[in-house]
Amino acid sequence: MARISVLFFFLSLLLLATAGVSSGAPTKRVGIYELRRGEFSVKVTNWGATITSVVLPDSKGKVADIALGYDGIRPYTNDTTNFGALVGRVANRIANARFTLNGRTYHLLPNDGNNTLHGGPKGFGRVIWTVKDKVDGEYPYITLYYRSVDGEQGFPGDLDVYVTYKIDDDFVLSVIMHAVPLTKPTPINLAQHTYWNLGGHESGSILEDRIKIFASHITPVNDQLIPTGEIRSVSGTPFDFREPAKIGSKIGRVPGGYDINYVLSSPADVQGVRKVAVVEDGRGSGRVLELWANQPGVQFYTGNFLKHERGKNGHYYKIHDGLCLETQGFPDSVNHPKFPNQIYSPGQVYKHFMQFKFSFK
Ligand SMILES: *[C@@H]1O[C@H](CO)[C@@H](O)[C@H](O)[C@H]1NC(C)=O
Ligand SMILES: *[C@@H]1O[C@H](CO)[C@@H](O)[C@H](O)[C@H]1NC(C)=O
Repeated sequence: MARISVLFFFLSLLLLATAGVSSGAPTKRVGIYELRRGEFSVKVTNWGATITSVVLPDSKGKVADIALGYDGIRPYTNDTTNFGALVGRVANRIANARFTLNGRTYHLLPNDGNNTLHGGPKGFGRVIWTVKDKVDGEYPYITLYYRSVDGEQGFPGDLDVYVTYKIDDDFVLSVIMHAVPLTKPTPINLAQHTYWNLGGHESGSILEDRIKIFASHITPVNDQLIPTGEIRSVSGTPFDFREPAKIGSKIGRVPGGYDINYVLSSPADVQGVRKVAVVEDGRGSGRVLELWANQPGVQFYTGNFLKHERGKNGHYYKIHDGLCLETQGFPDSVNHPKFPNQIYSPGQVYKHFMQFKFSFK
């Protein structure tokens, strides 16, 4: 009898373990999860709610992984690139690691000189998220959840954060981010930090890619990449991508390369969703990326800080081997009252929607 109940106990454990997330039981065990629809595969880990790979064919049917990243999970826990990560509580830089809200000054943890970058040294891209839901089938998705507590990295109030990665259609990836402040008003600005290389993550520089960015202004920055507060026209500057142009055609006039917030100006639908950018591969794969989102800005970053970074398959990524299009609010908004508001109070919900549509020429 005792033996039978012991056996039953172990069987139940085994069942619980194998039932895993598909039964709806949330798990915090760190794993890599695949979403697949036909030849389109997206892999995500709950470490940092990170996209680890995006595999799809080119115009001739040859498949490649077009997201920069690492093999396995461990290198993500000690990286400085934010490859594929979901960054927050406040993406981008906050000057001097502080801001004032309702008369109180909050001190954050600096991790970029004297400034706070991507939520601090242990921002949302460096924590373990809970897998809430993982659903396969025609429109596969995964929902990850993280509870950020009052005072974490210096930010006020408890916050529930959800991100869903979903394959909506053939070669269409949606990212749906929600954040719910529970106890205090707080700034919220999440961003998806995948580095794209449409020729394949190992195919070298993106400077031959053609890009169109649907923005007529930028928020210029000082030498520490902190916005000056000005909103400046791109006209006559190397930031003007209102007409498609090779990224490399004017990057020589931008010290360090592109790492700048664009003020999006294309018309928005009733949900606030607008076209952000179109990128065409410069190496003949025929892959095209179109990005749509409901945010006021997009940070265009050309992998300027990549230096001999050991990635997937032992490949070393060099400067400009990937590009990021991080839709978000404007950087350092908490210190610029004229920038769009990023403060959310209990009772309000932060909603950030992105859609990456891939096609072939
Ligand atoms: C973390 O990264 C640093 C520098 O990139 C390296 O020196 C260190 O050995 C790494 N630590 C681990 C545990 O991999
Ligand atoms: C950080 O602030 C201190 C004090 O204001 C200043 O001396 C130092 O140069 C700053 N560091 C950087 C990297 O800007």
